[in-house]
Amino acid sequence: MPIPEVDLTVYPDLCDAYGHLNQAAFLSLFERARWDMLARGPGMEVFTRSGIWPAVRRTVIDYHAPAFPAEVLRFEQSLIHRGRTSFTMRQTARRLRDDTLIATAEFLFVCIDRDGRPTAVPDVFADFMSRGAREQSDARRITVNGVTLAVEVKGQGPAVLFIHGYPLDRTIWRFQLAGLEGFRRIAPDLRGMGESDAPDLGYSLATYADDLVALLDTLGIEQAVVCGLSMGGYVVFELLRRYRSRIRGLILMDTRADADSAEARKVREVAAVTARESGAPAIAQEMTARLWAQASAQRIPDLVADISDRMGRTPVAGIVGALMTMRDRPDSLPLLRSLKGLPTLVLVGDEDHITPIDRAAVMAEAVEGAILREVPGAGHLPPLEQPEFTNRSIAEFLHRLH
Ligand code: MLT
Repeated sequence: MPIPEVDLTVYPDLCDAYGHLNQAAFLSLFERARWDMLARGPGMEVFTRSGIWPAVRRTVIDYHAPAFPAEVLRFEQSLIHRGRTSFTMRQTARRLRDDTLIATAEFLFVCIDRDGRPTAVPDVFADFMSRGAREQSDARRITVNGVTLAVEVKGQGPAVLFIHGYPLDRTIWRFQLAGLEGFRRIAPDLRGMGESDAPDLGYSLATYADDLVALLDTLGIEQAVVCGLSMGGYVVFELLRRYRSRIRGLILMDTRADADSAEARKVREVAAVTARESGAPAIAQEMTARLWAQASAQRIPDLVADISDRMGRTPVAGIVGALMTMRDRPDSLPLLRSLKGLPTLVLVGDEDHITPIDRAAVMAEAVEGAILREVPGAGHLPPLEQPEFTNRSIAEFLHRLH
């Protein structure tokens, strides 16, 4: 995920008698943009979690052009220097409408502890700030439903919408995007994950489903086969509830139809506290231990490390939003029983401990005519662990359907 840009509106109470955005008000807007950026990344508490406070030591602002009420300014942040206990952040404000540069600022911060002693810049913050330079994503950015989603779209033909699980992103579908020719493959990052926007609040299955249908609308797609992995499967169920006519067929991968038990709901709540208090890396560590088949760590160590790294960079707001959404999801078995022959493929890794084979079998039994396939040598992530088997199974299903 690149460093999030932040859009802020100029309100009249920030302007002077001539109607210009007041020079002093810029300080507040730059500060607001920094907090919003953290909220969409490692969390606003990224410093206080480690008992650290970033104190401003020096500020330099250049004012380039005036801004007026109701204009929206886009703030971009970058880290231009990291010392042991200090760092310098550069921020720019541009008018969204015409990209005019309005102001540039540099802030030198010193990290201090509660007694005011200089202390080390937290790695998690520095890693977050250095990611923009590290990653060159070729995802398209499409704004739907008030959020900008990162989306990869490949190929031509009947559409297949790939929906990732938690706390993952579209890159779990990298081999399906690269293969499966003859189909239009669409893989978005859900809101709150990957490179998509991560609002503080407003996460629900309904919102994820609305985002995805708005995305299909934007791409001019009337019907798609929907392929959901794990939490992506829960989103598929919601799409069925709300937008049945848009769905041509189902691929349910390493997911389950039943709701959370009372115990599972508690586990979600504990995980949300962990995310808030210790950040995404703690969640990534816990998930990494459960995601993969036994042999995967030795067989595909680079993929395991890449996914772990990506999970560790998921915005905390997105993690908490997804956890609460999964905690509150309904039982979807009655829904599956009512589908009456909607073409359905159920795939599951034979070493999946998160959504095990018996859960997949229950779903396959519920949908008349559904095909159930176990993926040998895969845990919770067959698209990455066994891409050839997964692509072959999907391709056979799609060719039969079309
Ligand atoms: C996922 O992979 O999306 C989640 O692990 C699903 C879940 O926790 O229910």
